[in-house]
Formats: sequence, C-alpha cells, structure tokens
Amino acid sequence: MKLIIGIVRPEKFPDVREALWKEQVHMMTVVDVRGCGQQKGYLEEYRGVIEEVTLHRKVMLLIAVNESYVKKTVDAICGGARSNGGKIGDGKIFVLPLEDCMRIRTGENGVSAIGGESKEASAAKERKK
Ligand SMILES: Nc1ncnc2c1ncn2[C@@H]1O[C@H](COP(=O)(O)OP(=O)(O)OP(=O)(O)O)[C@@H](O)[C@H]1O
Ligand SMILES: [Mg+2]
Repeated sequence: MKLIIGIVRPEKFPDVREALWKEQVHMMTVVDVRGCGQQKGYLEEYRGVIEEVTLHRKVMLLIAVNESYVKKTVDAICGGARSNGGKIGDGKIFVLPLEDCMRIRTGENGVSAIGGESKEASAAKERKK
C-alpha cells in the first residue's frame, strides 16, 4: 500500500479529479494548502509596500492505494496537473509507503480496507452469485 500526496495548482484540480475518476480513483482527501518550491518567493507590492511572497496557494490530495493503483494514480495526477508543456509551479507528487489502513465501520484493515469495496460488501456480492 502507498500513500500518494499530490500538490497541484488549485485551477488544475478539476482536471486532476477528472483524470482520477477515469481511472476509478474516487477516494481522496483534498486540502487547501500553501507552499513553496525551489523558486522560493517573489516580490509583490501591496499598498505601496514591497513584500516577499513565499507561499503559493496549492491543493493537496491525499490518496491511499493498493500497489496495483500506484502508477495509474500518479499518472492521472501528473496528466491533469501539468500546464501546457510543463511550467514552473505545476506541482509535486510524493509516494510514501503506507503501513496500514483501517475502515472504522467494520474494523477491517490492510489491503481490503483501503479500496472501494469492504469485505462485507464483496462477501454479500459473492453470496448473490
Ligand atoms: N521538497 C518539498 N517538500 C515539501 N513540499 C514541496 C517540496 N517541493 C515542492 N513542494 C510543494 O509543492 C508545491 C509545488 O511545487 P513546485 O511545483 O513549485 O515544485 P518545484 O520543485 O519548485 O518545481 P518547479 O521548478 O517545476 O516549480 C510547493 O508550493 C510546495 O507546496
Ligand atoms: Mg516551483
């Protein structure tokens, strides 16, 4: 299991979400954040005072996936977030090992808790067959 953290431009978030949905990735946590990359800051004048702006508005996505979803999730974020030809500030993607995950409702954990279907739901489906 991996935890994928994507940090993207806010205006690109709708494209990123659509690309993820196309890959059946619907489960995500989205946070408005501010951050700074390798360009550090820039100077901006506000009410006659020149200030250094070091933090830009970004959207952070947290997506926990099973191994088989890692590549398609990363590719979808990248595809949706990249500006024409790629521009400074387009964002970053971090892939972290994920030790465990628990679905609180059922108490199930690990690989079966992470995905779209609980053990209970798939067992019910099996029974119907
Ligand atoms: N090393 C890092 N650690 C934590 N957050 C980071 C790091 N690098 C980038 N970020 C986050 O990602 C956002 C977007 O980064 P950004 O795309 O500017 O990366 P970059 O390394 O500066 O690449 P580029 O040169 O293409 O701009 C930053 O505003 C920050 O929130
Ligand atoms: Mg940058």
